[in-house]
This record gives sequence, structure tokens and C-alpha cells, in this order.
Amino acid sequence: MTTQFEHLFSPLQVGPMRVPNRICETTNTINSSQTPGLIDEHFIAHHAAKARGGTGWIGSETWLLDSPFPPETPDEVGLAVGFASHYAAYQNPAFAEGMARFFAEVHRAGAVAVTQLTHLSAVWAPSPVVVVGAQDYTPHVIGEDEIEFFLRSYANAAAAAKDLGADGIEIHCAHETLGYSFLSPVTNRRTDQWGGGPRERVRFVIAALERVRERIGSGTALGIRISGREFRQGGFDNLEMREMLYYIGETGLIDFADVDVGHCWGAPSYVPSSYYEHAQYKECGKAARADLDPKIKVLFSGRVNDPVVAEDLLKGGYCDLVGMVRAGIADPEFANKARTGRLAEIRRCISCTRCIDEASEPKTFPYTPTCSINPMIGNEVRWEKTYRPAPTPQRVVVVGGGLAGCEAARVAAMRGHRVTLLERGKRLGGQLLLAAAVPGRDDFEDQIYFEENALERLGVDVRLGAPADLAMVKALAPDVVVIATGSVPRLPGEIPGIGLPHVVQAWDVLAGRAATGERVAVISQEDYYETPCVAEYLAVRGKHVEVFHKSVHLGFEIARYSVGMVHARMEECGVVVHPNLVLQEVRPDVFDLVSAYGVRSYTKEGFDTLVLAYGSVPSHALYDELTADGSVAKVYLAGSAWLPRFMAEATRHGASIGLAI
Ligand SMILES: Cc1cc2nc3c(=O)[nH]c(=O)nc-3n(C[C@H](O)[C@H](O)[C@H](O)COP(=O)(O)O)c2cc1C
Repeated sequence: MTTQFEHLFSPLQVGPMRVPNRICETTNTINSSQTPGLIDEHFIAHHAAKARGGTGWIGSETWLLDSPFPPETPDEVGLAVGFASHYAAYQNPAFAEGMARFFAEVHRAGAVAVTQLTHLSAVWAPSPVVVVGAQDYTPHVIGEDEIEFFLRSYANAAAAAKDLGADGIEIHCAHETLGYSFLSPVTNRRTDQWGGGPRERVRFVIAALERVRERIGSGTALGIRISGREFRQGGFDNLEMREMLYYIGETGLIDFADVDVGHCWGAPSYVPSSYYEHAQYKECGKAARADLDPKIKVLFSGRVNDPVVAEDLLKGGYCDLVGMVRAGIADPEFANKARTGRLAEIRRCISCTRCIDEASEPKTFPYTPTCSINPMIGNEVRWEKTYRPAPTPQRVVVVGGGLAGCEAARVAAMRGHRVTLLERGKRLGGQLLLAAAVPGRDDFEDQIYFEENALERLGVDVRLGAPADLAMVKALAPDVVVIATGSVPRLPGEIPGIGLPHVVQAWDVLAGRAATGERVAVISQEDYYETPCVAEYLAVRGKHVEVFHKSVHLGFEIARYSVGMVHARMEECGVVVHPNLVLQEVRPDVFDLVSAYGVRSYTKEGFDTLVLAYGSVPSHALYDELTADGSVAKVYLAGSAWLPRFMAEATRHGASIGLAI
């Protein structure tokens, strides 16, 4: 079959490993196993779905390796694949058995499996310099015996991975890992054989590669993941990366170099949000290729969510292979869809970063991976078990075309129900329309396109500009109604003066329904993206913006991987943030705040408009009327109309209703 993506779908020889196409799921520890320390059916279902969906290279989740802790220290085992201390998860025969089953599944789908070996080095480092910004303790400086332990641990793990069926091994030398901390001039200040200039700082990585190669022989591909450049003061730039990579490459030990950019904490994160350009740091891929023997293949990753972007990278000589991790989380089938020209069917990753935010700071146990727009993520096994065509097609009316409503309609229609969706606005999308209006978040509109295309393909009768009421719904004679009427901004009615005309809602500003003066105070009781988004929206329009926020910092609920980007953004557009303050009273020219944790009051003046970001309250009047009326057999309440939370919750709730009808 011919494809418009000629480069993307041409196979590539990487050392002894033949990769069927150029699309790589680089390693992503999304914690898909629900059985800590083991490879269970959820892990296999999650990553193998990508292989079946056409991704050629499956990196799955990292292997954290055993470390030379003193024997009397307690274990620090945590996350699914094992936050190893004395032992690594792979040393458990049950883990190894699961991994072998997984590799076999990847091979059955025609893909190759690459295992990443990692020592995360908040604890250990070549020099007493803090490695990971999020953990500010000074690491233990490793001595010769410990270096020997680490080198052996890479070799042992590589041999095990090879025996279990891995086609390739990658030593992780990016993102604040041990390999990285030897390469970086900031964290490697050693004056012995392991430190010095670029030629000396690569020695640890080369020694690890030598040990691994001795054990895996020439039949397994070997490579490293390396940061294209650092964003910390005194760190290496892409020229120095290129030089180090040249020294590593000239040893003849590696078959590939996997280049990405970013840190675990701060800006940029190595899982870049929509605030970054697509493939923003692609020049690092090109730099890596410049001096390497062309036999060594370069993989580049970082916000490539679309086959068109990937094809252009290959065509432009930026890399030989393209990392597309979140593209496959949003849509594990995206590669097959691209190959067969079904581009309108692809659900593109919107780079909201919920997947990494949640995986890096899991809040539930057992944890399930989360995606804002793909309801099947983390639920693959449940979907496989419960998804069935509807036994009797029913007449379903969905009220509200936000995420929950669209997903309920989409899944119900996929299952064979006859669905009508009533949306009072001119377009589907609900709150997504507000999010997409904000600078750097236009990718959110991609999800609206996806829903529009999907509902049309499935023959859903979408009626826009159709504000539903009881009579209208009943006139459609539905068997089932889904009320997904969303939420409305919360108005703190108890605050004196809150009804004054210069007080407006953030949503109204973003929707273009409310104008502001030149000097704006954003009053925030919201810890996610709404406040920084409305602040930025106004600042880029030339307004002077100050945020008065209830918590210790803006974006308190945004995880460490992503919050740095939000703060960088505020700084860049000149938004001033005042933390720990709660609104007490609004008067015509001034307003009063009280300390969130103390008792002090403050009076502020000089603002033309107050913009409220207080979250939202559910809007379910029609649900109440319908259930009181009793004429429709089954009425569901979906998404924010039930409980206003984040996108993923709305997506999953809507889709689950679609499954249940
Ligand atoms: C949930 C999640 C977990 C990740 N875990 C790892 C990891 O363990 N090791 C690693 O090298 N990169 C990890 N990454 C980074 C990805 O390999 C990739 O470089 C990043 O997601 C950017 O590529 P993308 O824009 O195609 O998603 C992770 C990414 C995600 C989304």
C-alpha cells in the first residue's frame, strides 16, 4: 500500500535490530501495571496496543536498577516497575516472566522492544551538587566501589533484558539520571579519571556501554538517551553534547542515540506542554547527527504529535527515528491511521501533560494512567471486557456538547445506538473552547476537531444552536437521556460588593463576553490552569495584570513536571503574583484581602477590573426536571454537570456512560 508518509513508514536497520518503521514509543513510565513491581495484564494491554496500532519501536517503561545502598538501609521500593534500592524489580522471577510475555506480545504485533536501564540520581552523583531540582538534598558522592556496582548493575540488567526478549537496550543518560550527572559539567566536578572536560566526562557512560556490550554481544541493539542541551546554568549546550556523543560513538559501542531536551523539574520539562512548539528542539537532533558515523541512528523526541510533523523531521534530516509517546497515549492506533490516510480519525495529543503529571505524582492506589482525551488509557482491560455492540439499539439524546457529552454520544453511537446531540452554542467543545482561546493552548482545539469528525462519521445527529428544555427533549421521544450541561463559574455571593459592575468572571473574559480595563486584578481561588490562563490572555493584550491567589503559589495542583512552565510563562508576560490572599470585600475603587493563613487584612487600589477565577458549580437543572417528570426511562448526569473537575474526568465519565447505555 502506498502512503503519504514515505519516510515515516520505511523500515530502518539499527545495528542488529530491524525497526519496521520510524515511529518510536520512547520509554514512558506511565505506571500502567496495577500490580506494583510486576508486569500485569494492564501493562501488557497498554503498551502492546501501541504495537498493534502500528508503532514500530516500543520502549514501554523504564527499569530502575539496584543501587549500592549500605546493607542496613531500608528498601525504598515504590512505583510499579520499582523505585529500586537494594533490588531491582527485574530480579524478581515473576516480573521477568511478565516481561517475557510482554516482549512476545510486542513481537507478535511486528514491533521491536527496547528496554531502558535507569539509575535515577537524586541520591547518588559524581559530585556533591544537587542533581534534581525537586529534591534539594546533596547527593551521596560515589566512590570507586560504588561506580563498579553501578557498572555491573547495567550489565546484569541488560543481560536479563536480552534473555527475556528485548531487541534493544538503552542506557538512560538524560533527565537527571546517573549517566546524565556524569555528562553534565554542573554535576560532575570530579578531578579523578571520571571528571574533567567533555572527553573525560563521557568515561562513565562508555564504561557502562562496554560492560553491557560484553554481556549482550552483537545481536542486540545498544544506545543511550542523551539530553540535546541543558537548561541549567553552566550546563552543556548542543555543541558540547555533539562532542560528547562523538566520543561515545567513536568507540563503536552504540547503534543509536536517543536525543531529547528538558529536565524533570522546571522549564522546559522533557515532557513539553502545548506551550512549546512542535519539535521545538529539533536542532539538537540535527546536531547529534552531524559528527556521528551514519551507521549510528539518531532518534529525536519532544512534542511530535502528528505524522506530518514526524515526516517533516525525517525529510529535513533532523533524525532517523521519531519519538511519539503521547501521540500513542492519545491514540494508540494513530500510526495505522496515518499509514492508511485516515488522518481525520486521529485523536491528537493536546500536550496538556496530565499523563506525566499524574504518573509522576500518583494520587490513587492502585494507580491507573490518565489521559485527558482518551478514556481507554489505564482502562484497556476493562474496555476489552465490557465493550459490546448494543443488544438493542436505543434512541439516545445527549444534552451538551462539551467533552462529557461528546464522549457519551461517540461511544453510544459506536455501539449502535441512534444518538442526537443538542448543543446550545454554535460549536461543540464546551470548556475546551475557552481553553483553546488562551495563548499556547490552541492544540486543545484538536480535540474538538476529533469529536466533530468522529460524531459525523458515526452519524450522530448533532444539532448546534439548540438550547434544550424539557419539552424539546421529550419531543424527541428518547429511551435514554444524557445530561452533560456542564458547569457555570462560581460566584462567591457572600462577599460584600461582589455584584459591582467592575467584577467579571474569567470565563466571560475568555469567551469575549466581558471587557476589562487596563489594570486588572485576577482574584483566584483556583489552583489549576484557569488562573494563569486568564492572566496570560489579558497580559498579552497589553493589560497590567496582578494575581491575588489563595495558595502558596499559582498552579498548586499542577505537578512538578509542568508547573515550572506555568511560572516561566507568568514571568515572561509580566504577570505579578501575590500568594496567600483571599478576597474579603469589593468597594468601587478598592478591594480588601485577608491573609489565607494569618489574620492580616490588606486594601488594594488602582485596579479597573476584578476578574474572578473561583472554579465552577454544576449546572443540572434539566436533569432535575427530567427526573421529576419521570417520562424518560433512563437519565444520566455526566461530567461537570455532575461534578466539575478536570478534562480526563469528564472524558472518562462521558465515555463510561456511552459504554453503559
Ligand atoms: C507518562 C510519561 C512517563 C515518562 N517516563 C519516561 C521514562 O521513564 N524515561 C524516559 O527516558 N522518558 C520518559 N518520558 C519521556 C518520553 O520518553 C518522551 O521523551 C516525552 O514524552 C516527549 O515525547 P512526546 O512529546 O512524544 O510525548 C515519559 C513521558 C511520559 C508522558
